[in-house]
Amino acid sequence: MVAKVILFGEHAVVYGYRAISMAINLNTSVKVEKADKFIIYSENLNKTLVSDNLECNDRDFSYIINTLKIFFNNFNIEPEYLKLSIYSEIPVSCGLGSSASVIIETLKSLSNFYNIELDKNDIFKLAYEVERITQGKASITDTATITYGGVLEIKDNKFRKLNDLNDFIKECDFLIAYVEKRNKKTADLVKEVSNLDYKDEIFKEIDKIAKEAIKVNDKKEFGELLLKNHELLKKLNISTNKIDKVIDIAKKYSYGAKITGAGGGGCVIILLNDNWKELIKRIKNHVISLYPCKVIL
Ligand code: PMV
Repeated sequence: MVAKVILFGEHAVVYGYRAISMAINLNTSVKVEKADKFIIYSENLNKTLVSDNLECNDRDFSYIINTLKIFFNNFNIEPEYLKLSIYSEIPVSCGLGSSASVIIETLKSLSNFYNIELDKNDIFKLAYEVERITQGKASITDTATITYGGVLEIKDNKFRKLNDLNDFIKECDFLIAYVEKRNKKTADLVKEVSNLDYKDEIFKEIDKIAKEAIKVNDKKEFGELLLKNHELLKKLNISTNKIDKVIDIAKKYSYGAKITGAGGGGCVIILLNDNWKELIKRIKNHVISLYPCKVIL
């Protein structure tokens, strides 16, 4: 299963303005097998949980535990011991939707294991329920984007596929630069932004950019919109010096770039041009890791 990035509109989307998100080709897989305890293994976290029941409070695995509970409950299956092994290319807690990806892949693997047919709408509904229960509050951005793929507009917690933009985007090569660990959680950043008395002015500008981006058919123009959106996010104080350094380099050696997700560190999304080798040479010492990616339709 894939990952997601927000191309435009993070934070503004919390207030009903539009955001544009995209499914990208960073994968997660979950293997399900019979076991004599509940065993959850994550290669990424280098961690294994072994438990007699699903009432264990393990923060790292709370999404998986809740996925199991909701799956068993929804399909009236008597819980039985299983081993779930999770392999993911998606770095955790940096705005790429690693939790939603793991939830969705777990649901798919469980449905295969139990021979239950799930369509995309079933998966979306169940995955959103798991996110909501685990986080207390969740937007549909991650679960919708990762379930349905392509490029989506999210507005008022509803989504629609942007099929025209899909045609343009599939010709684009992106690079995700994981610059630094986030210093705050999404909820804390959303709260801080909510305290800014000028936020609505900024959100209106961001919404205009997202609206323009839907109609764009030119990489240079699209890159400029990414940079404009980043400037506005800076005014919301969610960028960092390290992120801005990477964006400054990307300004010279790509079509454009912006921070993606809640901010406070994390990732930058860059639209590549022919200077990508030079770009990589110049940013590689300023990042934790780099992920070349394309949209997954
Ligand atoms: O970094 P993430 O994936 O948690 O993105 C959060 C995006 C926000 O707009 C800041 C919050 C939201 O729920 O949409």
